[in-house]
Amino acid sequence: MIICIGEVLSRTEIAEIVGAAEKIRFVDGGSTAGWAARTVKANLQAAADDPTALALEARIRRRLEAHPVVALAARPRRFGPLLLSRYEAGRGYGRHVDDAIMGEMRSDLSFTLFLSDPAGYEGGELVVESPAGEQAFKLEPGHLVLYPSTTLHRVETVTRGVRLAAVGWIQSLVREPDRRELLFELDTARRRLFDEQGKGEVFDLVDKSFRNLLRMWAEP
Ligand code: NI
Repeated sequence: MIICIGEVLSRTEIAEIVGAAEKIRFVDGGSTAGWAARTVKANLQAAADDPTALALEARIRRRLEAHPVVALAARPRRFGPLLLSRYEAGRGYGRHVDDAIMGEMRSDLSFTLFLSDPAGYEGGELVVESPAGEQAFKLEPGHLVLYPSTTLHRVETVTRGVRLAAVGWIQSLVREPDRRELLFELDTARRRLFDEQGKGEVFDLVDKSFRNLLRMWAEP
C-alpha cells in the first residue's frame, strides 16, 4: 500500500522550514547510501552536525510521530533517521532499494515529505515501482507519501529549480505490507462503524477481530 497524507505541515510551518533551510550546510548525499545505491545517488543532504538541520528534523519528526493517519497506516514501532534532502538542477537519485537495516532498526516504510512548491521545479518526481507499473509522486508542500521500503524507487533528475524534501524511515510493529494494509482498512472500518452505530454487537465482533489480528501479527 502506498498512501499520500495531506497537510502534515501547515503553510506557515512550511514557509518557516524552507526559510530556515537556506542556512543549512548541504553535503553530497552519497555518504549515507549503501554501496550500490551510492552509484546512482546524486542529491545533497543536510550535514549531520548542522544545528539548523537538526532542529528542523526534530520538529518534523514530532509532527509525524503525532500524526493519526501515519499511526494507522504505519503502526510505528520506531522512527529512524530523518534527513533533509536538496536536489538542484542536474541532481537525481536513480533506481535503488533502501537499506533493510539502519543502525538499530529495520526499515519497513519509507516516506518523503515534500517541502518545495511543485511549480518551482521541474522533474524531481518520486517514482515507485510495483508489478502493476510505476507510480510518480510530486506533491504539494507539506504533503507526505508513505510507501513500503521493500520497493524499487527513484527520484527523477531535477531539470530546473530546487526540490527540498524530508525523507525518513519507520520500523513498523507489523513487518509485512499486506498485513499492515489489512489492519489499516479493518481499523478504519471499525472506527467508522463506531461513529455511525456506536458500540453494538457488530462493532464488538469487528473490534475483537481487529485486536486479535494485531495481537497475532505485531512484534512489539
Ligand atoms: Ni530510497
